[in-house]
Amino acid sequence: MRILLGVGAGIAAYKSALLLRLLTESGHEVRVVPTRASLAFVGTATWEALSGRPVTTDVFQNVPEVEHVRLGKEADLVVVAPATADLLARAATGRADDLLTAALLTARCPVLLAPAMHTEMWEHPATRANVATLRSRGVHVLDPAVGRLTGADSGAGRLPEPEEIAEAALALVGTPLRQDLAGRRVVVSAGGTREPLDPVRFLGNRSTGRQGYALASAAAARGAEVTLVAANVSLPDPAGVAVVPVETTAELRAAVREHAAAADVVVMAAAVADYRPATTASSKLKKDGDGGLTLELVQNPDVLAELAQDRLRPGQVVVGFAAETGDASGSVLEHGRAKALRKGADLLVVNAVGAGRGFGEVENEVVVLDREGTDVVRSGGTKEHVAHAVWDAIRTRLV
Ligand code: CTP
Repeated sequence: MRILLGVGAGIAAYKSALLLRLLTESGHEVRVVPTRASLAFVGTATWEALSGRPVTTDVFQNVPEVEHVRLGKEADLVVVAPATADLLARAATGRADDLLTAALLTARCPVLLAPAMHTEMWEHPATRANVATLRSRGVHVLDPAVGRLTGADSGAGRLPEPEEIAEAALALVGTPLRQDLAGRRVVVSAGGTREPLDPVRFLGNRSTGRQGYALASAAAARGAEVTLVAANVSLPDPAGVAVVPVETTAELRAAVREHAAAADVVVMAAAVADYRPATTASSKLKKDGDGGLTLELVQNPDVLAELAQDRLRPGQVVVGFAAETGDASGSVLEHGRAKALRKGADLLVVNAVGAGRGFGEVENEVVVLDREGTDVVRSGGTKEHVAHAVWDAIRTRLV
């Protein structure tokens, strides 16, 4: 497929180098058309080297080829990242004052714009109106991500991660991003189990399921057949993923093991309760006098350790997560390494939680360890970005 990648003059232009890589590695022919001002951030040499094609910014180069018409007409997909406030304005008003805007006017294929700018510029009525105009004409304008901006400030206006832009753009033409998990069956568990005390109360945890859902979506986008065992998650079902809802650890264990029997990969991203009440009352527990209440808890099976031990399918890759806070007896990573050795999983994804980190947060930071506790990969960023990095590590272990 022929993709035209437009690059606007924003600091996030460097992320488009990764976007270009993703698109070319997915087997597409990409022609980069930067705006002249964007070259102050990333220069022509980078785009030419990465795309393997010449790069021009204005309509007066390669005149005999009438590039400003040809580029747009020949493209099967146009992606612009970052789309600055100025570029959105020029596109919305139909200007054709450089090669990129001219190509936008001649393109008849799907067009995706990924805006990036400061929050004030994104929220300005002029920008809002330009975005509304473009969307009303069928142009796909992504919402920018929320997070750290160029300076010390943060808010809406960040360029989404290259993987998300590539996925969203390729979805417009019905071609998924990478297909390196095609033909693979994977099971992902997500969320947090709940152990009922009585019909209205339970022991649970703060897991939102976001990282597990991001892992399931990323695997599906890369071609895998995905079963997502979801423990008490209130997120929308990811596209193309079979979701099996569960509540307790016993239910999660049964569902994971059932589907793991035919799976190439099992990723245990769920926060599984280590203990459950010894008994569950069939009617609501009543206060009994003024004293306290002592609960008797019994240990749940360790689903991950069992999977690592049993190896339900030959060659299966078993992946665990370790959410750690660190304490007096060891750092996050020290606890992670000890857990990697203890659990016997092929890979263990360690992340720091607590004090506003980990649970439900937009960003995540992880270290992937192998069975001996050695670093395989470090990744940080959105949970989608982390999910792809984890799959990159898993893929190298698939036989
Ligand atoms: N896990 C599991 N079954 C359990 C507990 C945890 O399968 N009963 C899995 C989780 O899905 C995760 C990994 O084990 O992939 C690590 O979970 P975590 O709660 O961090 O580890 P624990 O074994 O519970 O260790 P500890 O609570 O002592 O830190």
